[in-house]
Amino acid sequence: MRDLIRSWRVNCPPWARQLGLAREHLAIAQRHSRVRAAWASHLETSQRLILEMAARCPSRERVLIIGAGDCLDVPVAGLAELFTRVTLADIAVGTEARRWAQQFPARVECVNWDASGALAALAKVRDQLSAADAPAFFTHANPGPPPGGEADLVVSANCISQLGLVPGHSLPAKAQDSTLPERGARAAARRHLEWLGARAGLRLLIADAARLDIGLDGKLMKRETLHERFGLPRPDRQWRWDLAPIPEWSDKFHRVHEVGAWIYGG
Ligand SMILES: C[S@@+](CC[C@H](N)C(=O)[O-])C[C@H]1O[C@@H](n2cnc3c(N)ncnc32)[C@H](O)[C@@H]1O
Repeated sequence: MRDLIRSWRVNCPPWARQLGLAREHLAIAQRHSRVRAAWASHLETSQRLILEMAARCPSRERVLIIGAGDCLDVPVAGLAELFTRVTLADIAVGTEARRWAQQFPARVECVNWDASGALAALAKVRDQLSAADAPAFFTHANPGPPPGGEADLVVSANCISQLGLVPGHSLPAKAQDSTLPERGARAAARRHLEWLGARAGLRLLIADAARLDIGLDGKLMKRETLHERFGLPRPDRQWRWDLAPIPEWSDKFHRVHEVGAWIYGG
């Protein structure tokens, strides 16, 4: 019942809900509340880096955060001190982001925005779409101009891997082809990078660089590089995120991510 109420309080267009975006938003919030201490260092590092990038901006009219979510990794108060306008964009806007907008009404705004530009069209054909045709929706989608207008700093806050993956998992065609979510993820990520490349200001992309499984004895069991599949080079910065300590994901290993930061322009 509590989860149902939380879900209602997430502002998310019906077509994005249908594609699993509100559910994913809640899943992140729930995991954070279970493993808060494990995430703390990653969230602090992320917030510090965003403020470092903010300090580099010669003009501070607007900062745009894409995939702002609950703003766990976003230093909203610090950005509101530095920028005239802080735009928190996400397809699912929850109570945490809205609370920031209420606290700084003149400076902080929340916007429901689909960074992939594909979701409304995808939802319309969700039940008929073939697995072969789905990735093209992301490749040819147009997210349009940045919500609120061009920004001095654009931060893509750990959402790039989800843009095609989450809706991909919700498509009935996945039953015929299990590679569909990953193919969607690659297509959407490349389109997002192209869109970021067309922006003029300083851009900071925060994304998963690698996935590690670490055993109970602390030994590395498996390491999988993640960023190369999106055509990304080595990150400019890198740190660890204890994403799912035992038993969150498995009772045999801790799931750890290496998070990367890529800095463009400015
Ligand atoms: C891993 S979370 C990022 C965490 C967030 N920065 C925070 O600190 O809470 C990814 C975010 O990307 C958002 N997202 C996923 N697909 C999106 C899309 N197509 N457009 C905009 N946001 C999207 C999700 O709703 C989620 O809030």
